[in-house]
Amino acid sequence: MSYIPHVPVLLKESIEYLVTDPNGIYVDATLGGGGHSKEILSALSDDGRLFGLDQDAEAHKAAALKIGDDSRFTPISGNFGYLKTLINPDLHGKITGIFYDLGVSTHQIKEGDRGFSFMEEGPLDMRMSALTGLTAHQVVNEYSYEKLRDIIFHYGEERFSREIAQEIISRRPLETTHDLREAVSSVVFGKHTIKSIARVFQGIRIEVNRELDVLKESLEQAIDILKMDGRIVAISYHSLEDRIVKNFFKSGNESGKIEKDFYGNPQNPLTPITKNIVTPSEEEIKANPAARSAKLRAAVKTGESE
Ligand SMILES: C[S@@+](CC[C@H](N)C(=O)[O-])C[C@H]1O[C@@H](n2cnc3c(N)ncnc32)[C@H](O)[C@@H]1O
Repeated sequence: MSYIPHVPVLLKESIEYLVTDPNGIYVDATLGGGGHSKEILSALSDDGRLFGLDQDAEAHKAAALKIGDDSRFTPISGNFGYLKTLINPDLHGKITGIFYDLGVSTHQIKEGDRGFSFMEEGPLDMRMSALTGLTAHQVVNEYSYEKLRDIIFHYGEERFSREIAQEIISRRPLETTHDLREAVSSVVFGKHTIKSIARVFQGIRIEVNRELDVLKESLEQAIDILKMDGRIVAISYHSLEDRIVKNFFKSGNESGKIEKDFYGNPQNPLTPITKNIVTPSEEEIKANPAARSAKLRAAVKTGESE
């Protein structure tokens, strides 16, 4: 099966914020098809290094083709929730920049067999890594009404969560993306149907891959492995992810509240460097509609984490 190309989003802006030292050590935590990694490598000197992480084996194959033979690049298979374990301890405290381009790639969305998209017929899977235990099939067919409703409401931000959860349960077993789409469209009518379907798919995908928890776990570890003055650059595609990134960048924790030490000194390990969020230009969105919801934030390490 061939890799459906992923057009990198906010490419120029990402590199501008991320690469402060051409001789530095960088981590692309979401390698995907290697679009951003390739660009990071072209901004580095012969002494620079880049680690490219992804939990999806298909992404690694595509990135290897894109990047080719480059001794400065090291691919790493794994989940960025284990960032600290995946990056050699000798390099902890020495990383110059860490990059996240969150969510799913075009390949994952468009490849029907992965079950991510309501536009493609496929099994209810939605796992970014074949190693992950939970599938969308289990969530849809085995979760209680309350759990399903809450996922659709909190992770999908869908207000008809009760009706949809009830309908899914009454139609069990659901086998395909088409079955799930049908369940939603039989209770949400009119012009909102497509948006509701998209939100339900988003909610279930977040649950299957534990996306929000993993992001929090990863950002905590990112602070630890960065060197002082090192940067984190993150592109998010929905408000739940963006809120986590925003809060971490402000305070170093998910609450967004800056803690103070005994003497009242603020304890924030990061300082945001993007005053306003960076978003794609009209031209970029026109050329690549998948970029439309992208929000880029960057922060610099200015203090130690607890
Ligand atoms: C939006 S794509 C990245 C595209 C990439 N920047 C490019 O230019 O081709 C996101 C990638 O991150 C990976 N990913 C998402 N969550 C992950 C996680 N927790 N650990 C490792 N990889 C993850 C996905 O498998 C996907 O390949």
